[in-house]
Amino acid sequence: GTQIPFYGQKHPVGIATPPQRYAMYMTFNLTTSSVKDLQTLLARWSAAASLMQRGDPVGSVEPDSENGLPKDTGEAYGLDPASLTITFGLGPAIFAENRFGLERFRPALLADLPTLPSDNLDPALVGGDLSVQACADDPQVAYHAVRNLARMGRSQVSVHWTQMGFGRASAGTGQETPRNLMGFKDGTRNVSTPEQFDEFVWVNGGDQSWLEGGTYQVVRKIRMNLETWDADRIGDQETIFGRTKAEGAPLTGSKEFDTPDFQMTDENGDRVIDPTAHIALAAYENNGGIRILRRPYNYTDGLNEHAQLDAGLLFLTYQNDPGHFAALQRRLGASDLLNEYISHIGTGVFAVPPSPAEGRYIAQELFE
Ligand code: HEM
Repeated sequence: GTQIPFYGQKHPVGIATPPQRYAMYMTFNLTTSSVKDLQTLLARWSAAASLMQRGDPVGSVEPDSENGLPKDTGEAYGLDPASLTITFGLGPAIFAENRFGLERFRPALLADLPTLPSDNLDPALVGGDLSVQACADDPQVAYHAVRNLARMGRSQVSVHWTQMGFGRASAGTGQETPRNLMGFKDGTRNVSTPEQFDEFVWVNGGDQSWLEGGTYQVVRKIRMNLETWDADRIGDQETIFGRTKAEGAPLTGSKEFDTPDFQMTDENGDRVIDPTAHIALAAYENNGGIRILRRPYNYTDGLNEHAQLDAGLLFLTYQNDPGHFAALQRRLGASDLLNEYISHIGTGVFAVPPSPAEGRYIAQELFE
């Protein structure tokens, strides 16, 4: 099966990796105040991530002695690694004063996001000290990964919030563009070439050497009001995104990858793509050149207490400055036609260190 090595990569895994079909995302809070515990946790998590990405258990599934406690929970035993990648993030609170003594390692750009328009945050879904994104083409493999990391860390961390995602709502190079739960293709115009990754995603020449070659993860849990959306007529849905539904073409073109023409007007002199359409506000041509890598997944939590569909987008993004996300969301939050149908309920910002060399572990420089 497909194996992706954890160690020795130029950049962290699970970011430029073509999006796998499933994600298990989890944030944790440290329950320990010992820096040594944090160090041990990151070392053990790194070793375990490498084993699991190879398709191996993190320890014995069936110990020799009948009194032995299995080290690995076993549900992925014998399964293909299914392109598993495990991506670790460190939140701003790790570097707070009087916590672990790591203040001097805080990158200047790593801070909680400012309050943004259209925030409707549930306090239970905000922040976290550490994040783990496990992606795989088999949901059982992704689940096994976070479950075993959580189990291994149970005396240092508690689980803060967690989300399972499916139907990757973005495409990597060579992949067909998938659809989000609103039925539109998602990921058509995304960061994709290595040059674009270098320019917009990977940290290069930042203020902290331990983060060079890494990136910043911004996560948003965005609920969709799907009943209202499903009651909206197609013309309105297409105006909101500025694209057609079946083909995914910009309203100024006919094919998915046609470049949108944001200036084109119709016979009444009105813009063909509404200036407050989602793509008109988000496109780099109109926002001062900002591009972020979108690597989102669809999610569902079943039905809510009002028996409405509880579903949306687990919006995972990567950029070399979390301020880029904030600037974009400020524009979108202020006037995006999509706002009527969505609500940002969860948030987090994490620094994602590069892949460690074999024999080392994630963010080891913090402890040297
Ligand atoms: C484009 C959906 C939230 C940034 C798109 C497209 C769709 C879409 C269908 C057009 C296809 C494409 O180029 O990928 C959604 C949905 C959202 C959401 C359903 C929420 C549930 C956001 C947020 C941001 C964002 C929060 C950033 C803060 C972008 C960008 C583009 C885009 C940068 C590309 C625009 C272009 O260059 O043409 N989105 N999006 N989106 N979206 Fe979103």
